[in-house]
Amino acid sequence: MRKRLLEQQHTDPADFYTGIVAESYAPLKSFSPDPEIYAAFLHEAGTPALELGCGDGDPLLALRLHGLDVEGVDSSADMLERCRRRADAEGVSVTVHHQRMEALSLPRRFRAVFLAGPTFNLLPDDGTAAAALHGIRRHLTDGGSALIPLHIPSPTPAENLGRVRTAVADDGAELRFSLVSEKRDETLRTQTALLRYERHGAGAPTVVERPWPLHWYPRSVFEELAAAAGLTTVSVTDPDGDAAADDAAYMVFRLRAA
Ligand SMILES: C[S@@+](CC[C@H](N)C(=O)[O-])C[C@H]1O[C@@H](n2cnc3c(N)ncnc32)[C@H](O)[C@@H]1O
Repeated sequence: MRKRLLEQQHTDPADFYTGIVAESYAPLKSFSPDPEIYAAFLHEAGTPALELGCGDGDPLLALRLHGLDVEGVDSSADMLERCRRRADAEGVSVTVHHQRMEALSLPRRFRAVFLAGPTFNLLPDDGTAAAALHGIRRHLTDGGSALIPLHIPSPTPAENLGRVRTAVADDGAELRFSLVSEKRDETLRTQTALLRYERHGAGAPTVVERPWPLHWYPRSVFEELAAAAGLTTVSVTDPDGDAAADDAAYMVFRLRAA
């Protein structure tokens, strides 16, 4: 009988970027956040600063290379291990913490806390988001600033389901990535993709499917969650820094610790 290869993994959302997903992250990455945007924010808001969901180090390492006092937090030990290895290779020191942003507990407070890109949308519901916003407030100095980009995901066009992207792993194995299916719930404001990751090298192939939930917020709902955590909305902008329309699909919230 042929061995069944496919493994369905129902990981907690905070553990999605582990194992084969962490290994595939850099080779399959098609976009990196522009560090200059975050450097400009830190020059204005001040340091020390904290990046939530720093992953394998973009833009954290570039900001450290600018000489900025920034630390990182991520829920994936695998991504942090890659971040530390990159820091060593680039000859820069970095302090990173293995924690979930909804259970943040650090000994220091920061003048700025930020996420680079819409990583906050990975928190699966309003309750988890509220816990993360309270944690951000507790870790900001009074008057400190937070920068949180958010998006409203669009349904994936049907013709993209099953389309395979490939990349090469460090050891030469072929990595494959595809979107198997997607479910959207307008009431819960979630869109959950079932993602397939494959590794074909020496030895038996690995084929893993994991759900990848995204959760979104109308502007007023996010402002209310932030206010309840003691964070006042200072501005809501589009990616170019102009005022965002109320129904914009991408908004950058700038918050201040009341
Ligand atoms: C899309 S990656 C972004 C990584 C990096 N900032 C970049 O742009 O390349 C999102 C990161 O957020 C982390 N993450 C997801 N949920 C998290 C949570 N609840 N708390 C902390 N980090 C989380 C993941 O482990 C992953 O490394």
